[in-house]
Amino acid sequence: MEPVTISSAREITGVLGIPGDKSISHRALILSSLVKCSVQITNLNQGEDVAHTKNALELLGVNIQNGGNGILKVDCLDRFVQPKSPLYLGNSGTSARLLMGLLASCEFKTHFLGDASLQKRPMKRVMDPLSLMGVSFTDTNGCFPVVQRGTSNLQSISYRLPVPSAQIKSALLIAALSADGVTRIIEPILSRDHTERLMRFLDIPLKIYYENQERVLEITGTYIPNKRKSLLLDIPGDPSAAAFWIVASLVVPNSNLRINKVCWNPFRNVFIDILKRMGGQIQTIARESQIGEDCVDIFSKTSSLHGIEISADLSPSLIDEYPILAIAAAFANGRSVFRGLRELRFKESNRLETIEANLKACGVRCYVQNDDLFVEGKGFEPTTFPIEIYPQHDHRIAMAFSIFALASAQPITIHQTETVASSYPDFYRILSRFSDFNSGLIFC
Ligand code: S3P
Repeated sequence: MEPVTISSAREITGVLGIPGDKSISHRALILSSLVKCSVQITNLNQGEDVAHTKNALELLGVNIQNGGNGILKVDCLDRFVQPKSPLYLGNSGTSARLLMGLLASCEFKTHFLGDASLQKRPMKRVMDPLSLMGVSFTDTNGCFPVVQRGTSNLQSISYRLPVPSAQIKSALLIAALSADGVTRIIEPILSRDHTERLMRFLDIPLKIYYENQERVLEITGTYIPNKRKSLLLDIPGDPSAAAFWIVASLVVPNSNLRINKVCWNPFRNVFIDILKRMGGQIQTIARESQIGEDCVDIFSKTSSLHGIEISADLSPSLIDEYPILAIAAAFANGRSVFRGLRELRFKESNRLETIEANLKACGVRCYVQNDDLFVEGKGFEPTTFPIEIYPQHDHRIAMAFSIFALASAQPITIHQTETVASSYPDFYRILSRFSDFNSGLIFC
């Protein structure tokens, strides 16, 4: 895709719908393939990451049809078949890890492939516990490509998560459904709980309790789904996608925005709390909950932001929002410090480095010390014209710096804009409502 040059925005005003939540969309597809009834899914995230999960399930024999009116139908399946070709999962870490869990009990070999970025991401963190359950792996140095062979004799384990990761936790929860006995997953530090909520919504027996201040998830193997004819899963809006427009509305003058039906999960809405602590004028009103998740409409308007210190213990709940929070910090008065961002180094890009390099390109005074990010708000340094952003093929970096451009005094050119298709293919179409920008993009 052509680079896009974005100039400062008119006000960010109006009502926005938001794509279906990416994390929940992966889980809705994967768990639908297990519930042994026909499932209809609405508002599935339309990005490439979720499409990779869908394509992989189809290669495994799951019949998924477009039912019209934005409805996707997932048919009931007896057992997965060995895929005739490798499962190519593009840029999607969530597809990779959750599908490895799903196939843990399948006696066949599966080749997992990914793009250059996915090939750099750590898979040992999910292969280690799956190996303890009896899964074998070959042709791997702990990264993709991976050849996995599952086992019908999958063993339950008791496993304390060494890193707070919803992807690893979910892979193990899904694998545990087919294991012999009771699997215990111990979470010393909590991460997003969409899998747990959806499992409960689907009546999958899952015990959750606390022991020595750690959360324990207990799941009994050889899951037999409840008998039912059909099921409807309506995916709530993605808070991480909403975060871009919320920050835009806070930093662009004369803005007043409403975003409808956003998932209000306590592990995903922490950025709202952070933005409010920075002085952001944000309000919510409750909507009906969807598939076990609370939902809200979010109202935000132009605000005078000030810097903030964010402690390391919040990082699992802010992990996808640090890029856009760094933009909020750049337009706030005073210094912001984001602590404990080590896990950001293992995302679609090394996000800590990518945020720092691109903030500097925009003239923001910032630095990284150990795993902490320091941002001096406002007081930008003189820059060359136009400013150029290289997102390192990372969708959240491209979107965050596009929002920077909306509030910037200078035009900013964003390269590799095609990367937004991972999670939010419509992003630049929406952005064109707020700013004239120069690109080869054509919107129908
Ligand atoms: C996700 C979990 C997070 C997040 C990712 C989606 C998920 O990753 O960064 O975008 O859907 O489970 P980790 O759990 O590995 O931190």
